[in-house]
Amino acid sequence: MRVGVITASDKGYAGEREDLSGKKIVSIMEENGYDVVKTVILPDDKQMLADEMIAMCDAGIHLILTTGGTGFSKRDVTPEATKMVIEKEAAGIPMAILNYSLTITDRAMLSRATAGIRGETLIINMPGSPKAVEEALLYILPSLKHGLEILLGLDSECARKD
Ligand code: MTE
Repeated sequence: MRVGVITASDKGYAGEREDLSGKKIVSIMEENGYDVVKTVILPDDKQMLADEMIAMCDAGIHLILTTGGTGFSKRDVTPEATKMVIEKEAAGIPMAILNYSLTITDRAMLSRATAGIRGETLIINMPGSPKAVEEALLYILPSLKHGLEILLGLDSECARKD
């Protein structure tokens, strides 16, 4: 499975802040057997984020994980960029992340993250801190693998055999 990681951060793009969340995603995904083929840091710019998502989809990346830009600050536009490019919403994923994250912090309600499918690529928004990324990603990884297999036609069977 090929993975692309997009960090949305004005400060990260300007070199004023180290991209710890993007690095955290890369290490978790590689530890779990995924092939991270591209990582980019972009400013909180809707069009630039959407263009990069489309480029990653066109390059045959199966899963795009974004980090940052899901909150309430004026510059946060990652969910809006994602909604520009997806063809189908996958609302259960941010719902599951929110449900789990609320058991850790009430502030999880402040993430406006979305997720969806464009062609054969799944795009998922994560919040912007390494802690939040780790919590969310480790929680969704087992189900994510199954979802990607269905999306790519590698598994058509949802019923559990165990
Ligand atoms: N989700 C988890 N699991 N853990 C967290 O610490 N932090 C929240 C939320 N989601 C958090 C979380 C906070 S404080 C904010 S403001 C939002 O994510 C949005 O973050 P972002 O703007 O960096 O994307």
